[in-house]
Amino acid sequence: MPTRSILTGIGGYLPEKIVTNDELAARVDTSDQWIRERTGIRQRHLAGPHETAAFMGTKAAQAALADAGAGPDDVDVILVATSTPDQAFPATALRIQAALGVTKGFGFDLAAACAGFIYALSVADGMIRVGQARGVLVIGSEVYSRIMNWQDRTTCVLFGDGAGAVFLQAGEGEGNDARGVLSTHLHAQGTLGDILYVDGAVGRHDLPGTLVMNGKEVFRQAVTRLAGAVDEALAANGLVYNDIDWLVPHQANLRIIEAMGKRLSLPPERVVITVDRHANTSAASVPLALAEAYADGRIKRGDLVLMEALGGGLTWGSALVRM
Ligand code: COA
Repeated sequence: MPTRSILTGIGGYLPEKIVTNDELAARVDTSDQWIRERTGIRQRHLAGPHETAAFMGTKAAQAALADAGAGPDDVDVILVATSTPDQAFPATALRIQAALGVTKGFGFDLAAACAGFIYALSVADGMIRVGQARGVLVIGSEVYSRIMNWQDRTTCVLFGDGAGAVFLQAGEGEGNDARGVLSTHLHAQGTLGDILYVDGAVGRHDLPGTLVMNGKEVFRQAVTRLAGAVDEALAANGLVYNDIDWLVPHQANLRIIEAMGKRLSLPPERVVITVDRHANTSAASVPLALAEAYADGRIKRGDLVLMEALGGGLTWGSALVRM
């Protein structure tokens, strides 16, 4: 029987502080109505000074391990998808390793912007399939509030902070009905790097960096690229739209999410939506949405879940998981 990556635990963490659209409108020239109509966002959680990517990632990872009934000794690898690490190094993954009390194995950070969790899940799945690891924590943790231009109303209303995590463990299985990661597909198009980027980094002392976006072009790319990714995932597994129980999409804009749900002919209640309350938490958005729908009992063991995301790079991809 081939080795499979089984998703045995899921967890999330959101900063305590909630900021509504009206509160933002007091700081920047915008309105609750504009933000809701164009994006579906009503509020976002914003990190306090202590709520860093490592802090929030640790909380999400602890919740995922507890859900799996696992402990530090079961963790071989920690992968953290983040564009907002606490430090250039050590990797956020290793700060989390220390905080969790994991003393073996290895870990590293992975930067693929909003598609980061899908990328990290794919790398983790590969490691498990080839026998390099038996337990991998896959974490998306982001504090985009620290890379916002708070004077730019076209971007600062769209993002929030948070972390989500899953624990993948080696198991056995074959076919679409057995539990585990059925497939992941990753894509990138570097020539589109200038439609969504951060204009600096720690290596550029002249530019700490804030997020810059051509919203219309990102929207256009998201709808076409994600539609392609969804079709690709189904075709690769010999599945059709009807086989999907849940769509857990990247949470950037309600209009993009609804377009994807329609394309899959999924009734709205089978599409997990958190963007209204979390806004776009980048690499944390998919695992946070998964954590919410799993914790409230919507997503159950045996369900077929399709995840997709697109982000700066351009990066995009999908993951199909039998829970
Ligand atoms: N509040 C009020 N008005 C705003 C505003 C805000 N926060 N942001 C922009 N506007 C104004 C614009 O200045 C523009 O005014 P004008 O017509 O006088 O020039 C008007 O609203 C329309 O702006 P536009 O950019 O055309 O709106 P849109 O319908 O394209 O919606 C986005 C903007 C950003 C919501 C939309 O393009 C989007 O969601 N794009 C994808 C973003 C995304 O998913 N990014 C993350 C990917 S990981």
